[in-house]
Amino acid sequence: MSDAHDEHESLIKTPQQLIAVVVLSFVVFVGLAILVAQFVSSGIKGAQDGSAEATAKAIQPVARVELGAAESTGPKTGEQIYTASCAACHDTGAAGAPKKGDQTAWAPRIATGLEALVKSALNGKNAMPPKGGNAALTEEEITRTVVYLANQGGAKFAEPKAAEEKK
Ligand code: HEC
Repeated sequence: MSDAHDEHESLIKTPQQLIAVVVLSFVVFVGLAILVAQFVSSGIKGAQDGSAEATAKAIQPVARVELGAAESTGPKTGEQIYTASCAACHDTGAAGAPKKGDQTAWAPRIATGLEALVKSALNGKNAMPPKGGNAALTEEEITRTVVYLANQGGAKFAEPKAAEEKK
């Protein structure tokens, strides 16, 4: 009886060690799997659409600095900047943001004038962070984006010229 009991106890130690080894190798395996999955999916996303911009967008949360470098290769349209930096709030109305194309929401804001709207976008307003949270944007880019966004809501602001053409 007591022999059987001892034997039972000594048997348990090995499975515990086994379990520890199994758990450890599982953790390592999952870690590797996540790395591989991220590598593969970013490769696929980039390959699907081939463009540097699509790749930059796919990796945006991990590599904002790289995105900033990619942006400097040419001026972006207000719509492109809007999609990248403003749509999260202004497409959905999140945090009370006036929705793109909602003329009722935009009319009183448009009435304050482009300059006031640009100032709000540059400095932030209530729930909106300065520059929509994308500090890499220049004042000119913000202006272009505000013009785009406000015009979708019924304004008729003129798209600002590129910096060198400004009076
Ligand atoms: C985190 C959410 C969020 C993001 C991102 C965001 N906004 Fe906003 N935006 C808001 C909210 C909320 C308001 C309403 C602020 C208020 O009047 O209380 C607003 C208001 C505005 C207004 C009207 C300001 C005024 O004076 O009435 C403009 C113009 C604007 N946003 C432009 C932009 C632009 C351009 C971007 C991207 C560069 C952007 N927003 C990104 C949340 C956001």
